[in-house]
Amino acid sequence: MTITFLGHGYVGLVSATIFADLGNTVWVIGHTPEKIENLKKGIIPIYEPGLEEVAKRNIKAKRLLFTLDYDKAIPASEVVFIAVGTPPKDNGEADLSIVFEVAKKIGQYLDGYTVVATKSTVPVGTNRKIKEIVESVRPRKAKFDIASVPEFLREGQAISDTLNPDRVVIGTETKEARSVLVELHKPINSFGVLTTIETAEMIKYAANAFLATKISFSNAIAYLSEITGADALHVLEAVGLDKRVGSAFLSPGAGFGGSCFPKDVKALIAIAKQHDYEFSLLKVVEEVNKQAMQSIVTKAKKMLGKVEGKTVGILGLSFKPDTDDMREAPSLYIISALQKEGAKIKAYDPIAMENAKKLTSGVTFLSNSYEAAKDCDLLIVVTEWNEFRQLDLEKMKSEMKNPVLLDGRNIYDPKKAKQIGFTYFGVGR
Ligand SMILES: NC(=O)c1ccc[n+]([C@@H]2O[C@H](COP(=O)([O-])OP(=O)(O)OC[C@H]3O[C@@H](n4cnc5c(N)ncnc54)[C@H](O)[C@@H]3O)[C@@H](O)[C@H]2O)c1
Repeated sequence: MTITFLGHGYVGLVSATIFADLGNTVWVIGHTPEKIENLKKGIIPIYEPGLEEVAKRNIKAKRLLFTLDYDKAIPASEVVFIAVGTPPKDNGEADLSIVFEVAKKIGQYLDGYTVVATKSTVPVGTNRKIKEIVESVRPRKAKFDIASVPEFLREGQAISDTLNPDRVVIGTETKEARSVLVELHKPINSFGVLTTIETAEMIKYAANAFLATKISFSNAIAYLSEITGADALHVLEAVGLDKRVGSAFLSPGAGFGGSCFPKDVKALIAIAKQHDYEFSLLKVVEEVNKQAMQSIVTKAKKMLGKVEGKTVGILGLSFKPDTDDMREAPSLYIISALQKEGAKIKAYDPIAMENAKKLTSGVTFLSNSYEAAKDCDLLIVVTEWNEFRQLDLEKMKSEMKNPVLLDGRNIYDPKKAKQIGFTYFGVGR
């Protein structure tokens, strides 16, 4: 099949690459000439493990093609996926301006029969508006259907998630669109949920809101465990063993961030409000998440005594491991709160430092964990990159001015850290 993706971010580029690798001809339409020229040469603008290799292979085979021109890609395509960003507006609603802008351009270039499918996370009713926009500009002869195909990939594991997702959700209103999308997804090893457009749109928000709720629930239990003397890690492990609950996402830490959970929780609260429903549960999920980040700052202040003039090392900046994505990363909150108190910040992240530099000021970025720890009064693990798990803690301790370790992701054995001579604090134990 010949298909097109609008957007070459974490979702668009990964999905386009995988569909090309499965034998389709895939066009990717961008809007920045420099990025499109780089992509044609195999220069990938995001960090995603394994992506570059598969993308280069398909660029070479001329199955993965990049362009700025709609007329090159759209008329030839049976399916056009919208995978552009839907960032939050100040009032929490999803900003759909890019989605509608590209929908208008897609509509103008349709030829024959095309399925216009949305992968971006959009509120219920958005695809109906896309239909109106496309309908208003399409050439007379062109026929089209809309579809909602929400994306569930996780940054850092996006390639395997795209090839083996837990489910593929396909929301359509005609048999023709459904059969085209089912055919396209046949090589993907997954459970298919074939449903209506509105249901597909809502599934994505419900899934992310539920996962965010699990994280905030874990952080609330962690907070109470610390006060009562329980070990939240054991508590949540035992809770997760119940098949009705499941163990994933039941680990306390420095709070959730990233481009999806904070934004999608906000958007679902806003969707509810538009329909006169106060989604109190999700408001608390947001509040507990802020408390989880603040709790790291409060502990740091307690451990440092006077913060002014002290040096704090930060290990891990991206919102989670294996990505360079800094959007809504807890590290940003923690760094800025400690800087306000007068702390000097040194930081190291294996991949995200270039992006972090654009979002912070006054931070000294170092090229490894030991350099980041040098002369620090406190070291905080904010992101659980694998390379931090096997650090030589003796060496880390010897680099530091005061061996105080705040393990915001519970990656170290507290007993071992204490034996080495660290003053150690984790989350929830
Ligand atoms: N990142 C994730 O893990 C993830 C997972 C599932 C769903 N989603 C959803 O998928 C959507 C995209 O997310 P993302 O993380 O890939 O975003 P992103 O910011 O990484 O990518 C957005 C892309 O849109 C492109 N774009 C912006 N304006 C454009 C225009 N006028 N014309 C053409 N392209 C334009 C950008 O260049 C960029 O390539 C969002 O709705 C997001 O909520 C993201």
